[in-house]
Amino acid sequence: MIRIGIIGTGGMGNQHALRFSRMKRVEVVSACDVNRTRVETFCAEHSIGHAYCSARDLLAGQPVDAVSVATPDAMHASIALLAIEKGRHVLCEKPLATSYEDAARMRDAAHAAGVINMVNFTYRDSPALQAAAKLVASGELGVVRHVHAHYLQSWLAQDEWGYWRESPTWLWRLSKKHGSMGVLGDVGVHILDFASMPLGGISSVRCTLKSFEKDRTGVADDYDFEANDSAAITAEFENGAIGVIHTTRWAVPHLNSLRLNLYGDKGSIELDLDRSANELLISRNVGRKCGDWEHLRCDATPSIFERFITGIRSGEQDQPDFARGALIQSALEACEVSSAMDRTVRVGENGYSVPSDATPERPPVL
Ligand SMILES: NC(=O)c1ccc[n+]([C@@H]2O[C@H](COP(=O)([O-])OP(=O)(O)OC[C@H]3O[C@@H](n4cnc5c(N)ncnc54)[C@H](O)[C@@H]3O)[C@@H](O)[C@H]2O)c1
Repeated sequence: MIRIGIIGTGGMGNQHALRFSRMKRVEVVSACDVNRTRVETFCAEHSIGHAYCSARDLLAGQPVDAVSVATPDAMHASIALLAIEKGRHVLCEKPLATSYEDAARMRDAAHAAGVINMVNFTYRDSPALQAAAKLVASGELGVVRHVHAHYLQSWLAQDEWGYWRESPTWLWRLSKKHGSMGVLGDVGVHILDFASMPLGGISSVRCTLKSFEKDRTGVADDYDFEANDSAAITAEFENGAIGVIHTTRWAVPHLNSLRLNLYGDKGSIELDLDRSANELLISRNVGRKCGDWEHLRCDATPSIFERFITGIRSGEQDQPDFARGALIQSALEACEVSSAMDRTVRVGENGYSVPSDATPERPPVL
């Protein structure tokens, strides 16, 4: 039996509990939240035996093999580092941290402790993305030259997911003071991973971030609303391809739309998760003629929850791990710096770098 503790019992904590509870020989034995009522209700709903109000208490209490960290972004690093120090395997929500520095500390600590570490880039679970990566690796598309990707939401412009001004779940996402990196850190992180995963990674970005005016009637002054809510990125990828990646919270009627096009010199693919996560469109050059789009069904792929548990059982680290989370964190910071400095910024395993002698020591406050 693998025993799990869930830290943070809001929207995603609920998802983690549901997903783990469906798995054989896995038990969610404890949960914690700074909000006592919420954690007690959560434990009652999911039949979890032990409720705590801090991660420290959870880790010192009922024994667990692994934890899920599903708190707001700003707490990921301190909680994950504590769990790693106690030798627990960690599945952490995205973004891995709120700075590259913290993400790199998490990566290095997990590596040194030898614990299984994964970051929940949810859309990796899409069979279409896994199939896309295989098609690129097999050379079927030839050399991929151009990329188009978007992640569109609209909760600032319509109420389908509840009115943003009335819910802490949405309010912390608008506030830099609460550790949010805006739409870039919230869902831009997914599309940066999604778009670059089949090609390896992103080597540089040029980005514009914008935070639009919002009505703050009835909202506590505590929330600063300074986090960006639209991001437009041009990127160069590790294989030399270039492309555009954009994300926003203003794209009515898109609730949660991800799309990726990869254009190679022998063929192209299109993934549209609104259409299906289980199939993609492919167009192959026939001779030197342009082929029609064909629908390609994609093999089922295990979820990150399954891969995390498999990793704990086998001792084999799967992707996306904290190293990938830190690399994407470097891309997020590069986007922030690029927008602030209006220039191209490099992305790397050791953090972002500005190709000039004007490298700032840390991302400027935007
Ligand atoms: N992978 C995905 O697709 C996906 C989707 C949505 C959110 N997320 C991520 O999941 C995380 C949680 O998001 P959410 O939408 O569930 O937020 P939420 O606001 O609904 O829930 C967060 C919970 O954490 C609790 N909390 C705050 N500080 C805590 C602490 N120090 N210790 C314990 N509990 C604490 C809050 O009281 C709240 O109940 C965020 O990092 C978010 O970016 C990921």
